[in-house]
Amino acid sequence: MGFLSNGHHEKVLVLKIVMVVVAMVSSTAFGAGNFHEAFEPTFGGHRVQISGQRSEQLSLSLDQGSGSGFRSKKEYMFGRIDMQMKLVGGNSAGTVTTLYLSSDQSTGRHDEIDFEFLGNVTGQPYTLHTNVFSQGEGNREQQFHLWFDPTINFHTYSIVWNQKLIMFLVDETPIRVFRNYEDRGIIFFPKNQPQRIYASLWNADDWATQGGLVKTDWSKAPFNAYYRNFNIDTSNNGSWKNHDLNENSRKRMRWVQKNYMVYDYCSDWKRFSQAFPPECKHSRV
Ligand SMILES: *[C@@H]1O[C@H](CO)[C@@H](O)[C@H](O)[C@H]1NC(C)=O
Ligand SMILES: *[C@@H]1O[C@H](CO)[C@@H](O)[C@H](O)[C@H]1NC(C)=O
Repeated sequence: MGFLSNGHHEKVLVLKIVMVVVAMVSSTAFGAGNFHEAFEPTFGGHRVQISGQRSEQLSLSLDQGSGSGFRSKKEYMFGRIDMQMKLVGGNSAGTVTTLYLSSDQSTGRHDEIDFEFLGNVTGQPYTLHTNVFSQGEGNREQQFHLWFDPTINFHTYSIVWNQKLIMFLVDETPIRVFRNYEDRGIIFFPKNQPQRIYASLWNADDWATQGGLVKTDWSKAPFNAYYRNFNIDTSNNGSWKNHDLNENSRKRMRWVQKNYMVYDYCSDWKRFSQAFPPECKHSRV
């Protein structure tokens, strides 16, 4: 009896130590926000530049030869990512700056969670385009203008991704919540495939600027966008796990959606004249 229960306790102790070590490794690995450690370039060669004492800053540039981009070395299954970004200033029409999560795209059934910043001519507002893909299907766009000029200072853009929801935040203000409604029989939610973090700056003047009407002004190239002070929290004890709206943040989100939302797929009657995507009938945010 005594022997058995000692063995059992030993196993439990070993298991606990293993769990603690795993939690420490996953929560401290990239907490310092070092771009060299956590990320690798995807395209654009020298147009991806890392700087700062702790490699905590990164710039992307775009010229007529190419755009540029980077991605995380690791894949993540849920978590929270925060990134400070400063967008292309002046005439940025035709440029698109991104921060997104994506699973392996070669499967043809990939998951994705997007922030895409569509540039504009000088003095006109950027459009922040958001979307969610599950198993290769997207069509869940919401677009916003911002309540500040995103090209003057750094602002923090965050994605919280847990079992229950995806939350998009700008400077801690939630602008969009996309919920997992599987309890209501709706299966559209990314939750079966790990995702990497991606960022890029590229030319999209064939669609981004009012359907391709305004072309990128290459006389202003190179265009630059800046990233810094990222944080990736996938720790088991992280508050991202149960992150949800509270009374105050729900109020803030309603304020943004009322005053700054410029497109919502759930109110696009023309596009979905046959039937709206199923989650649209749930107004619970
Ligand atoms: C979570 O655990 C890590 C160590 O594993 C610790 O450094 C961190 O402060 C903890 N965070 C919270 C929110 O308790
Ligand atoms: C550019 O600004 C115009 C005028 O405010 C606006 O209607 C349009 O949506 C903006 N375009 C983009 C791509 O943000």
